[in-house]
Amino acid sequence: MSRSTQSEEDPIWSQLRDSICGILGQTVEIQFSNTLNELHMQWYEELEHLSFRPQLRYTRAELTDRLQSTESLLMFILADGRPEVVLLGYALADVSRRTFYLDTIAVRRRGLGIGTEVIRALINWLRSAGYESIELDTEETDEKGIPLCSFYRRLGFQIVSTYEDGDIRMKLVLD
Ligand SMILES: CC(C)(COP(=O)(O)OP(=O)(O)OC[C@H]1O[C@@H](n2cnc3c(N)ncnc32)[C@H](O)[C@@H]1OP(=O)(O)O)[C@@H](O)C(=O)NCCC(=O)NCCS
Repeated sequence: MSRSTQSEEDPIWSQLRDSICGILGQTVEIQFSNTLNELHMQWYEELEHLSFRPQLRYTRAELTDRLQSTESLLMFILADGRPEVVLLGYALADVSRRTFYLDTIAVRRRGLGIGTEVIRALINWLRSAGYESIELDTEETDEKGIPLCSFYRRLGFQIVSTYEDGDIRMKLVLD
């Protein structure tokens, strides 16, 4: 997998675009980037502020650092030009079997099935790219009571460990 080959025209992403278009009834566009320009930063911050409490938000330097990770993936989904979804992840450098770390996903209009579609597409794409597993850190529920752990469980993830601060490491093995 090469970072530069991400394209909205890849069948996995174009199917995702069509299904989100069906859910929202708007024009949907998917954009990938390996760098953070001002517009990307603006989109990221907009979704991040709607989704994460201040302690969980990233500085520009932290985001840039993550984008320099091996095989990083930064994806924005726009509906009628407005950012709806951001997804950030990368390969875990210290794991010999190919593991992708899903660092961030945030959806503006929740509970419509968009998050499920995005993760399913990600799973398909990572499988086709030869990855063996996906890992992420989450919480049982978010601060608004949305059941994050069961959201991922429904998508096939299993808990592998629980940290002292209550965060939960989940993993999906790709077959
Ligand atoms: C977690 C998140 C990405 C899920 O995306 P989504 O588009 O809302 O996901 P879906 O609509 O596919 O599924 C959401 C599930 O959450 C539950 N849910 C209940 N009320 C909800 C609400 N008001 N909003 C969102 N989800 C709700 C439902 O169980 C739903 O599952 P089901 O209806 O299929 O049974 C999204 O809620 C989000 O952006 N949250 C804030 C950021 C965050 O916490 N990211 C994850 C960090 S690990």
